[in-house]
Amino acid sequence: MSKAAITGIHGYVPDYVLTNAELERMVDTSDEWITTRTGIKERHILKGEGMGSSHMGAKAVAGLLEKLNIRPAEVDLLICATTTPDYVFPCTANLICDMVGIRNVGSFDIQAACSGFLYALTIGTQFIETGKYKKVVVVGADKMSAITDYTDRTTCVLFGDGAGAVMLEPNDEGVGILDSIIKSDGIGQNHLFQKAGGSRYPPTHETVEKRWHYVYQDGPAVFKFAVKNMADVSAEIMERNQLSGNDVAWLVPHQANKRIIDATANRMGIEPDKVMMNIHKYGNTTAATIPLCLFDYESKLKKGDNLVLAAFGGGFTWGAAYVKWAY
Ligand SMILES: CC(C)(COP(=O)(O)OP(=O)(O)OC[C@H]1O[C@@H](n2cnc3c(N)ncnc32)[C@H](O)[C@@H]1OP(=O)(O)O)[C@@H](O)C(=O)NCCC(=O)NCCS
Repeated sequence: MSKAAITGIHGYVPDYVLTNAELERMVDTSDEWITTRTGIKERHILKGEGMGSSHMGAKAVAGLLEKLNIRPAEVDLLICATTTPDYVFPCTANLICDMVGIRNVGSFDIQAACSGFLYALTIGTQFIETGKYKKVVVVGADKMSAITDYTDRTTCVLFGDGAGAVMLEPNDEGVGILDSIIKSDGIGQNHLFQKAGGSRYPPTHETVEKRWHYVYQDGPAVFKFAVKNMADVSAEIMERNQLSGNDVAWLVPHQANKRIIDATANRMGIEPDKVMMNIHKYGNTTAATIPLCLFDYESKLKKGDNLVLAAFGGGFTWGAAYVKWAY
């Protein structure tokens, strides 16, 4: 059976940079608090009327196709992980396909909050491994600024906007996505969520007044679950693939908080210089953090490098993947 290999990666962040200094002028916070508690210095924000996650996803996908010299007509399937779809329907994957000229193929969204990219990658992998498709695009795109309450200092410092996309193709050289684990537990539903806008609480004047269309997070509760579950699932994937910390070239963690990343790396026995980190530049871009990390570190990666991808998000959802880098 062929493995699904990542054969290319591309990322996109919008131009506008929201710095800690600007946030200091918006809410009662400080660069010192944000930096020491989260590791974030700045994040990128998508500005402009009528601009959604698809606009960033399409930039990432168009860049990916150009880089790989692959025509839109060659793509067999596109999966988009997002928590901030442009519309309730049609799905953001449809819109991205339209923008980049991919037609007459399947496309759908995956909603697994900050673990969305790992979920989508796992799903895309199945279509390659079964031999059904030869070119699957997996994109993570989130415009978190659309659901962030910029009067709430406990959440507005955390999030940013961005997108990243990978191409999956079959490979028979023993490299590619060799294993993955995805998990969820609804116990987390009240700790991290956007209450209104879905079918349970459709938009009304009341939902708007109560600010229910924004992210709500019980930070300390989420922090505890994130540290434990991201470390546990990373340890699990290492154990079942007989990997020690020394065997791992790179940990590619979801970027929600530098302290969560440090704790995960520590538990896995991975030195800090082998941990991909770009949270200082982008904050938490939800489904885009992992592909944006791979994009930023692409030039440092070598064929055969062992990567462990690990994520945690609302739901709760979490997961890990063991990837042998293919180029
Ligand atoms: C959100 C988070 C950074 C908060 O850090 P924390 O160390 O847990 O801080 P706490 O929430 O306990 O707050 C500590 C104090 O700082 C204050 N505070 C919160 N946000 C602040 C801000 N932006 N600026 C200044 N002070 C702030 C709190 O009000 C609290 O004050 P108090 O002690 O007077 O009540 C942290 O909990 C976190 O990262 N949680 C998980 C995030 C995550 O992974 N989310 C997504 C999963 S994908």
